[in-house]
Amino acid sequence: MEINFSSMVAIVSGSGTGIGYATAELIALAGGAVVVNGRREHICKEAAQRIALQGGRAIAVAADVSTPAGAQALVNAALAHFGRLDILVNNAAIARPADFVTAPYDEWRQVLDVNLDSAIHCARAAARVMIDAGHGGRIVNVSSIHSYRAEKGSSHYDIAKGAMDQLTRALALELAPYNILVNSVAPGFVDTPMSVVDGKSELDTEWFKTLYVQQRRIPLARAAQPVEIAQAIAWLASPLNTYVNGHVLVADGGLSVTF
Ligand SMILES: NC(=O)c1ccc[n+]([C@@H]2O[C@H](COP(=O)([O-])OP(=O)(O)OC[C@H]3O[C@@H](n4cnc5c(N)ncnc54)[C@H](O)[C@@H]3O)[C@@H](O)[C@H]2O)c1
Repeated sequence: MEINFSSMVAIVSGSGTGIGYATAELIALAGGAVVVNGRREHICKEAAQRIALQGGRAIAVAADVSTPAGAQALVNAALAHFGRLDILVNNAAIARPADFVTAPYDEWRQVLDVNLDSAIHCARAAARVMIDAGHGGRIVNVSSIHSYRAEKGSSHYDIAKGAMDQLTRALALELAPYNILVNSVAPGFVDTPMSVVDGKSELDTEWFKTLYVQQRRIPLARAAQPVEIAQAIAWLASPLNTYVNGHVLVADGGLSVTF
């Protein structure tokens, strides 16, 4: 069965690059109209143009979704340009290590603002519109295996992603009466700009190649490509999903089932 998004409108936060871009492209090329978002205008515009060149419908909206105003700007743009809103993918995030004890609070807190509060702001703004329209909808939160595994220096990221999956469960309950289905996709390692640390992809390090590939700590012995995560997001966001609600779909090549 093919996924078809025709006549549907989606917002994908943080979709100028990586998993978000792959998701926006997939939805648009399957007939949907997409609001592409990020903080940097030229990146969003290039992404929307790349989709348009392939025959898809997309507009670029540069906005900081860690603020209620930024989130509302995306919803307003969806309504102004496409006249409706069916799908929200909460994908925007940042990753920067910070020591829990010594990092300045604002720096530590910013990861929660971007990675968690953004999803809350966008979900509130989107749900109001979906409820008013009465046609139901889909919300997919892009969390991480960090939602149930912790890493040193990532307490802010771990907490944000764990809370995001709990947001999924809470909203699955709150929004079910309106036929708005809410789910998470929790990726493991993915080959995106987020994997680049100090100019080098962590996927190219000896550490990753030895432990995760050669020793098969990831049973599939490789990181995911963005489109492999986008396919999971798109299915949960699509009309094919009529009964999966409040679920966290782990997409990590089997990483989290091993010791
Ligand atoms: N790459 C991985 O290994 C991996 C693993 C697990 C989960 N994830 C999650 O996948 C999602 C996508 O990340 P990615 O790997 O594609 O990395 P990415 O850096 O390419 O994508 C994140 C996007 O969010 C945007 N963004 C950041 N702050 C924003 C803000 N305030 N407002 C609007 N946009 C903002 C960035 O500009 C970027 O385009 C994130 O939620 C990330 O936590 C990634």
